Amino acid sequence: MKAVVCERYGPPEVLRLAEVDRPVPGPDEVLIRIRATTVNRSDCHYRLGTPPVARLVTGLFRPRHRILGSELSGEVEAVGPAVTEFTPGEAVFGVKAWTFGAHAEYVCMRESAPLAPKPASVSFEEAAAVCDGVILALMGLRRADIRNGRSILVYGASGSIGTAVVQLSRYYGADVTAVCNTENTSLVTTLGADRVIDYTQEDFTKNGQRYDVIFDAVGKHSFRRCRESLRPGGIYLATDQLSNLVRAAWTARIGDKKVVFPIPPRYTKQDVVFLKGLMEAGRYRAVVDRRYPMADVVEACRYVETGQKTGNVVLTVS
Ligand SMILES: NC(=O)c1ccc[n+]([C@@H]2O[C@H](COP(=O)([O-])OP(=O)(O)OC[C@H]3O[C@@H](n4cnc5c(N)ncnc54)[C@H](OP(=O)(O)O)[C@@H]3O)[C@@H](O)[C@H]2O)c1
Repeated sequence: MKAVVCERYGPPEVLRLAEVDRPVPGPDEVLIRIRATTVNRSDCHYRLGTPPVARLVTGLFRPRHRILGSELSGEVEAVGPAVTEFTPGEAVFGVKAWTFGAHAEYVCMRESAPLAPKPASVSFEEAAAVCDGVILALMGLRRADIRNGRSILVYGASGSIGTAVVQLSRYYGADVTAVCNTENTSLVTTLGADRVIDYTQEDFTKNGQRYDVIFDAVGKHSFRRCRESLRPGGIYLATDQLSNLVRAAWTARIGDKKVVFPIPPRYTKQDVVFLKGLMEAGRYRAVVDRRYPMADVVEACRYVETGQKTGNVVLTVS
């Protein structure tokens, strides 16, 4: 089969399309013929080997996993003898977190992995882009007890995690303020934001408004700068910068405003099934910015690494 292989750490150009062996499903595994996958920020961090401390897990000298790509949608091609939940021909979507392998024509996943039937109303491309940003968003929102009556400001509302945070906060009944640039204000409004602040026109930390939760969905803000915009007992949710782990530990003991950095992400089948239900009910959609054929993965990575994508970037696999 064809796959994108990554044999050393480095820029997007280290990736190459190659012929590799097609995986064979074990007794409790399904073999999926991939129709679409994504290039997300985790793929890029993994390929770059950043932050350096991550190489203790991802491989000291070269990437432990040769084929990247975690999110996917496709069709079940074959199942192991112990599989009861899936049947060949069924359309599925999910996330192969930690071990990757989705930048390929085929992948094997355990039946118990974060994998679920794809809603018929959602395209393969859209379904492939559902699991990563949303699961990171869900983890944060659960830790912040987001619900009716609570207010949240989403900084970086136009990114993969940000577009998910806006929609899920709306779903949970919170009052949502989204912060993005001029270009994306109408998008985040259609996703359910109650109000939008264009960061090119207004600094939300200076307008006197306060929120129960500030979700820094793009890792470009800081607890220090947001602190005065949090209500007493407020929570700053971080998605980036390991120094936030120290701040989380510190604020857990001192002060009434907390930093929460929900890592490592936990990807579960239960959450993928929950997302399937949300999509079927019309309460969630993945925002897809650009689509590239798998052969153009280098170009796709370059775009993701600009930090300017809106929602998600999909790779189509024919
Ligand atoms: N915690 C984890 O396990 C985990 C996993 C994956 C990723 N991450 C991190 O989570 C963060 C978000 O990832 P993502 O994939 O959701 O990001 P993304 O999709 O790449 O975010 C891009 C979006 O952020 C907006 N943006 C860029 N700079 C901004 C700024 N200074 N202020 C406001 N908006 C800005 C961009 O819009 P503009 O056009 O306005 O610039 C763009 O729409 C990244 O830092 C990533 O490293 C964490």
